[in-house]
Amino acid sequence: MNKLVKSFRSKKGNDVVFRYPEASDYADMYAFACDIGSEDTFVSLAAPPTEKEERDFFTSMLESVEKKESIYIMAYVGGMFAGNARVNRGKGRHEHSGSIGISLRAAFRDEGIGTELMKSLIDEARDMGLRLLTLTCFETNAPALHVYEKLGFQKAGVTPGAISYKGQYIGEVHLYLPLITD
Ligand SMILES: CC(C)(COP(=O)(O)OP(=O)(O)OC[C@H]1O[C@@H](n2cnc3c(N)ncnc32)[C@H](O)[C@@H]1OP(=O)(O)O)[C@@H](O)C(=O)NCCC(=O)NCCS
Repeated sequence: MNKLVKSFRSKKGNDVVFRYPEASDYADMYAFACDIGSEDTFVSLAAPPTEKEERDFFTSMLESVEKKESIYIMAYVGGMFAGNARVNRGKGRHEHSGSIGISLRAAFRDEGIGTELMKSLIDEARDMGLRLLTLTCFETNAPALHVYEKLGFQKAGVTPGAISYKGQYIGEVHLYLPLITD
């Protein structure tokens, strides 16, 4: 399988490569998870994972990719691991839909990479035969909401107070993008 998804130049002129994950990505993924966990940003991960937690996560991630239950796209900027995005296929009565997650290191945000990652993920989800994409987002995460709505995601609603973040209970926005409507 060709591991390359696409390559392009970012809005800031950086060379960006998207590719599928491989077993040798573990160290990059762990360092990234520690950075995102320490940042305490708008993701579920509230602290750096332990080595065991990350190893278990990474092993099950590669298994789910192998079984075609998930797609992961890794983003490299100037050769540095910048972040990733994934879609996980649902199970049972949710098998036709996929849930999305995305995060980039702070240094690589706001140069168009997240938008391109989302576009690639949507294309991959279509190729996987999914009919519907869903995701959840902190109500206060304005840049992420902007990206999702720009790409056609619609708000299904908000669960008030669903997320505990920095000493406050804030709303969780539920969004969806139909891929096939017949
Ligand atoms: C969300 C995330 C993946 C977006 O990726 P990104 O590369 O920064 O996004 P882009 O640069 O493609 O687009 C950002 C957009 O937000 C806009 N934006 C920036 N700050 C904004 C703000 N405060 N309010 C509204 N829009 C804002 C930018 O103008 C840009 O829109 P445009 O392309 O129409 O001009 C990235 O910011 C991230 O990883 N954040 C931390 C983790 C996270 O929040 N993950 C998502 C969990 S749901």
